[in-house]
Amino acid sequence: MSLQKAAITGIGTYVPDDKLTNADLEKMVDTNDEWIVSRTGIKERRILPKGLGLSYMGEHAVKQLLEKTNTDPLDIDLIICATITGDYRFPDTANQIAMKVGANNAYGFELGAACSGFLYALQTGSKFIESGTHKKVIVIGGDVMSSIINYEDRSTCVIFGDGLGAVLLEPSPDEDGIHNAIMKADGSGVDFLFMKAGGSKNPIDAELLVAKEHLVFQNGGPVFKRAVQGMSSTVKDVLALNGLTRDDINWVVPHQANIRIIQTVASMLDFPMERVMVNIEKFGNTTAGTLPLALNDYESKLKKGDKVILTAFGGGFTWGSLYLTWAYDS
Ligand code: COA
Repeated sequence: MSLQKAAITGIGTYVPDDKLTNADLEKMVDTNDEWIVSRTGIKERRILPKGLGLSYMGEHAVKQLLEKTNTDPLDIDLIICATITGDYRFPDTANQIAMKVGANNAYGFELGAACSGFLYALQTGSKFIESGTHKKVIVIGGDVMSSIINYEDRSTCVIFGDGLGAVLLEPSPDEDGIHNAIMKADGSGVDFLFMKAGGSKNPIDAELLVAKEHLVFQNGGPVFKRAVQGMSSTVKDVLALNGLTRDDINWVVPHQANIRIIQTVASMLDFPMERVMVNIEKFGNTTAGTLPLALNDYESKLKKGDKVILTAFGGGFTWGSLYLTWAYDS
């Protein structure tokens, strides 16, 4: 007996109004618009005002999602929130969002996995639907990267921004929905992209603060190479798993970290860029937010039955690809 598939039945998003443009960054660090656009593809990012936190973006996106899908918040069973920048180290931001939107019958939890967070959370959420124990699961991906970026480090601060998206998962009435995924992790990647201080290994103290080791450190070159390799190989694996070729696929939705990573992955797969979702120029890398923000921007072009592959790579290292058929015409 085949399990009932989980289908994405709607998307809600939130990005802050405040923009941080390349011209703004030119005044902050030794950089320029030409370098940023040619090396990353990014023109601007959004920045959430201090004091609001991830749950503020989550509340707005989930309220929009509930309205778009005509869903009563009391019918939500579970909220999974992929993020590395929750409101607090504890308690959990998923439950803060549940409270703010009136999802009083839901429980929730946060999920790490950095830039692969939404993909991991989507795969996790789909299992709760497939098992038949949960009927309405909200999967959120988003980050307030401005809260952990060192705005004196030009190689890192130009890349990241703030933003969040949420999708509703429900049992599919037919065969469209999430089919399967291939998820990977390699903990030996930790030193290439991480925050040294602030966890239980290196609690923040004055020395670590002065050294700015409570902020993101990235060694971009190796991350770039591993991202290209990880995303392209798992897309190929997920195609093979489902007996598909690239010509069968309507859309690839890649994590938006660097336009050159996206273009290299597309070229390694011999996949035309016209069928690759790209919106990095507007938001930069919002970490767990990039995939739902890209889906939202392309929602009007998606048709029921479209074959879609989502792929991501992030700190950890974590990576993977997920295959779904789109469940609705917008
Ligand atoms: N403006 C101008 N020059 C910059 C700069 C900036 N913002 N950032 C770095 N540079 C300089 C470097 O100092 C270096 O100068 P040098 O040759 O005099 O030493 C030069 O540009 C090239 O640096 P390099 O680090 O080799 O650039 P790059 O082409 O690898 O681009 C990243 C840097 C970070 C954009 C790129 O490595 C990247 O995108 N990596 C992956 C990031 C990623 O995906 N992160 C998220 C994972 S999910």
